[in-house]
Amino acid sequence: MGRLNDKVAVITGSARGIGKEIALYMAREGADIVLDDLNAGELEDTCREIKDLGRRAVLSNADISTRAGAAALIRTALDAFDKVDILVNNAGVPSRSTLMNVTEEEWDSVHRVDLKGVFLCTQAVATHMMEKKSGKIINISSTTGLNGTTGAIAYAAAKAGVNQFTQSSAKELGPYGINVNAIAPGRVITEMTRMGRNPQEVEIAIASRAAAAALKRTGIPRDIANLAVFLASDESSFISGQIIACDGGRMDRM
Ligand SMILES: NC(=O)c1ccc[n+]([C@@H]2O[C@H](COP(=O)([O-])OP(=O)(O)OC[C@H]3O[C@@H](n4cnc5c(N)ncnc54)[C@H](O)[C@@H]3O)[C@@H](O)[C@H]2O)c1
Repeated sequence: MGRLNDKVAVITGSARGIGKEIALYMAREGADIVLDDLNAGELEDTCREIKDLGRRAVLSNADISTRAGAAALIRTALDAFDKVDILVNNAGVPSRSTLMNVTEEEWDSVHRVDLKGVFLCTQAVATHMMEKKSGKIINISSTTGLNGTTGAIAYAAAKAGVNQFTQSSAKELGPYGINVNAIAPGRVITEMTRMGRNPQEVEIAIASRAAAAALKRTGIPRDIANLAVFLASDESSFISGQIIACDGGRMDRM
């Protein structure tokens, strides 16, 4: 008996990396999955892997940073399964710019996906979850949204916004039986770790975060998926409005 039997989960940015791992793990725990990503090719691979696990899976290529895209994603889910129990707002894009070199265009494009996309998908699913008086919303934030960082100011500010959005929407949606929480990963090795960095910079990025963690390693997508499944399951029914760091115990945070 899986921990998510008969649940329907919508997971944004699920073609690869953390989103894909969450989708596969939720499927292993018995959930049917609605996958969404702009990367159609890799998303089809994820879809096949979920079907191989014996679960149902539906694909969407909506851009969650637009109102129309977020609405289309939730409509796809409701058309296919008649309900949404779990929304994981995972899609995200990085930025590697400092305060003094970030452009207005980069600021806006990062905020459009990393913060506005979370708002749009949450708003699109909320009416349905409020009507059925249950739901689990999990936002994938970042420890940079808790502590700040150097060289990713637009991203850190967007993720700090996700944290506050999580707490505010938990307060508004709690009376309807909806839990809203955020996971704040530390560095997790995915394509995002490599984007905008040369191989040497990638090595430094991985080693420096491992050294800064009490557990002396960087994360893997499964670390985040374990926590996401817990937050989606009945086991976490009394937890809401939390920003849970999953970062190996970053010592500058503790
Ligand atoms: N990897 C890390 O170290 C790390 C650390 C902290 C937080 N995070 C967060 O975890 C989440 C997943 O990151 P990842 O490392 O797996 O990155 P990734 O780049 O491997 O995956 C992100 C996915 O989101 C998709 N996406 C981007 N914009 C989209 C849009 N507008 N609509 C639909 N899909 C879109 C991409 O196509 C991609 O497949 C992100 O929110 C990221 O900010 C990652």
